[in-house]
Amino acid sequence: MSAKREKRLYRCHECAATFPKWGGQCGECGAWNSLVEERASVATEPSRFRSQGYAGVSEVCALESVAAVSEIRSSSGFSELDRVLGGGLVLGSVVLIGGDPGIGKSTLLLQAMAAFSGQLPGLYVTGEESPQQISLRAARLGLTADSLRLYAETQVERILDTVGKEKPAVVIIDSIQTLYTSALQSAPGSVSQVRESAAQLVHFAKKTGTSLLLVGHVTKEGALAGPRVLEHMVDTVLYFEGDGDNRYRMLRAVKNRYGAVNEIGVFAMTDKGLREVSNPSSIFVSRHEEPVAGSVIMVTREGSRPLLVEVQALVAESHAANPRRVAVGLDQNRLAMLLAVVQRHCGVAMYDQDVFINVVGGVRVSETAADLAIVLATLSSLRDRPLPSDLVVFGEVGLAGELRPVQNGQERLREAAHLGFRRALIPRANMARQSTDLLDVQPLQRLQEALSIF
Ligand code: TYD
Ligand code: MG
Repeated sequence: MSAKREKRLYRCHECAATFPKWGGQCGECGAWNSLVEERASVATEPSRFRSQGYAGVSEVCALESVAAVSEIRSSSGFSELDRVLGGGLVLGSVVLIGGDPGIGKSTLLLQAMAAFSGQLPGLYVTGEESPQQISLRAARLGLTADSLRLYAETQVERILDTVGKEKPAVVIIDSIQTLYTSALQSAPGSVSQVRESAAQLVHFAKKTGTSLLLVGHVTKEGALAGPRVLEHMVDTVLYFEGDGDNRYRMLRAVKNRYGAVNEIGVFAMTDKGLREVSNPSSIFVSRHEEPVAGSVIMVTREGSRPLLVEVQALVAESHAANPRRVAVGLDQNRLAMLLAVVQRHCGVAMYDQDVFINVVGGVRVSETAADLAIVLATLSSLRDRPLPSDLVVFGEVGLAGELRPVQNGQERLREAAHLGFRRALIPRANMARQSTDLLDVQPLQRLQEALSIF
């Protein structure tokens, strides 16, 4: 009689899809080398939240009969963090903060926690640093948090036990990847452990109205380890990002049930911890002594406020069969498309030129309002003609060579005027009915008209 063979299962650590056979690429999300072996008995162990939901079970009821209690928010002491959260931390909400190791997640939360603990009792659960290390850091940052308590533990059941006894209003878990639940046998940090641990914590938070802040590390590829399995469980997902050698850090909301997404908050890492930058427009624009070719200032709008950023282009003769198109902080395909529009509608060909484009300060701009800035920066570099240093631009470029309006034109112009810019090139449809006396605005209908600036 043959021995009963144990069933094997392979799980993708990016998207948690399971496969009976190992493969180099995940068939679900396309990630490479992401399948790890799991014992089937562990992998298929039913999560109690599958039958219960994270918010528990209740009777059917009419929408109107549910009292809509307006959310109570508390301030983190950082107005930048409060804004990204949608106006402060909502009591009972679950927030996931992701970022590369060493970016400053623990520092940010410790500083925020010190502010919260003035209003609410807090518990900092640490699985990575010892309480001594955290207390040393708090002392170095000059934080006084009398009601903040520390707890070094990684087993979820014990954490829930303690939290149930201590009854803090805010709990920080640093980090979710270090936790494990005794219900599963896989190693801490594996998808099933991260998911199950988070599920238990979220369930507890929703049941008791405790606010929960989860720290999650990001993999090399820039995704939270087991990202999709956590993002749907929580109310808010924030990413803390920044260049390694740049002291500026950006906190971005990618999901928020209590506020706007794509909202960004800007911080600077100093020797006294994180300091907020309340006027970020000034740091992403390098004011040159003299106007330089290939540099254009644009007004982007990330989340709920306008932000001035500098788009730089370098156009250089190419000796390769395929000229290079490199975009940093912008969409590469969009750059290729815009170069085709310029060729077709402005008669300027760049098929024998390498084109490099970059947004200063590590900012990422995803909106189409950057189109006009990309085109003008490229042409300015190609012709070696600087643009006036008091000029700002924004606008979407269509495939027919037309300029399309973008949202919140007036607000963008106001921000530019506020920072001392005097001239603007914008789509005609963005011209307000009430005239703008803030700046000398030149409205454009077609991309070709923009060339008169050179
Ligand atoms: P940390 O919060 O430990 O990062 P994470 O929790 O995201 O892994 O931040 C650590 C980095 O921040 C470390 O490289 C040192 C730097 N730092 C300062 O520059 N100044 C400070 O006051 C503190 C506390 C940290
Ligand atoms: Mg940390």
